[in-house]
Amino acid sequence: MGAFHRLNLLHFTLSLVVIAVNGHNITAILEGFPDYSVYNSFLTQTKLADEINTRETITCLVLNNGAMAALTSKHPLSVVKNILSLHVLLDYYDPQKLHKISDGTTLTTTLYQTTGNAPGNLGFVNITDLQGGKVGFGSAIPGSKLDSSYTKSVKQIPYNISILEISAPIIAPGILTAPAPSSSGVNITGLLEKAGCKTFASLLTSSGVLKTYESALDKGLTVFAPSDEAFKAEGVPDLSKLTNAEQVSLLEYHASPDYKPKGTLKTTKDPISTLATNGAGKYDLT
Ligand SMILES: *[C@@H]1O[C@H](CO)[C@@H](O)[C@H](O)[C@H]1NC(C)=O
Ligand SMILES: *[C@@H]1O[C@H](CO)[C@@H](O)[C@H](O)[C@H]1NC(C)=O
Ligand SMILES: *[C@@H]1O[C@H](CO)[C@@H](O)[C@H](O)[C@H]1NC(C)=O
Ligand SMILES: *[C@@H]1O[C@H](CO)[C@@H](O)[C@H](O)[C@H]1NC(C)=O
Repeated sequence: MGAFHRLNLLHFTLSLVVIAVNGHNITAILEGFPDYSVYNSFLTQTKLADEINTRETITCLVLNNGAMAALTSKHPLSVVKNILSLHVLLDYYDPQKLHKISDGTTLTTTLYQTTGNAPGNLGFVNITDLQGGKVGFGSAIPGSKLDSSYTKSVKQIPYNISILEISAPIIAPGILTAPAPSSSGVNITGLLEKAGCKTFASLLTSSGVLKTYESALDKGLTVFAPSDEAFKAEGVPDLSKLTNAEQVSLLEYHASPDYKPKGTLKTTKDPISTLATNGAGKYDLT
């Protein structure tokens, strides 16, 4: 087993992640505004904060603590994540731009659209300049009501990030029952094979550990998969000689029951618990 630790591990995550290159840190910005502390805490819990920080041009539509409490008391974290990702617009809207929308109405794409779980216009938001200087927000699905409206500006860093408060959550039809972005239809072995980790993928299947990985997907999963090359390297034990129990705990050691984009991994200093932490062999990643 010791030799396995010396393998050059290819760090591979199940979701597409980009290394943070921008100056903004949404968590730090919102810490200065206690009215949005619940929203901020959910951005951290859902890891949406990491995705926001990796994007260059973005608008966050924030909800105050009262509006967030109503939302989070009714829905599980995966649904809250879907809803909040619909509140992250992939364009820069400051108050001036909101009031100068050409033809008074537009559709804009959101982080929810990037999850692959948003057919048609589901991941788009309709922004409409209403009478009397009011700006309404709603789902882009035709017939949706614009029952959320712009209330005030919170913070702008032109033209990287804009934070605007809106009165009520934007709810797209079906979003309350949609699967969590990271868990639906992910083909773990397919992804691993594409990433050059065929050996690891076939071990996952033959040992049955694939099921453990799949059941951990709901909460997010990061896999540290050794590449096929790594398996061929000198000093690597012959895995076929390991007992099934040893194979299982070895494979479980290579996944962390949490979704850790690269940005999160780079800043994690505490031991990361892995799926094997509670198994026969104990392995904590440090
Ligand atoms: C905006 O983002 C760019 C990188 O995309 C960065 O170079 C620039 O410093 C940022 N501007 C501000 C004001 O943070
Ligand atoms: C962003 O800010 C929060 C709170 O100040 C801090 O805990 C976190 O480490 C920061 N993230 C990055 C990537 O700098
Ligand atoms: C936005 O919604 C309003 C009200 O439903 C609708 O009249 C308008 O056409 C929509 N805008 C776009 C660009 O689809
Ligand atoms: C996952 O991908 C692999 C390899 O591409 C394929 O053999 C397998 O049938 C796929 N499984 C599902 C459930 O689609």
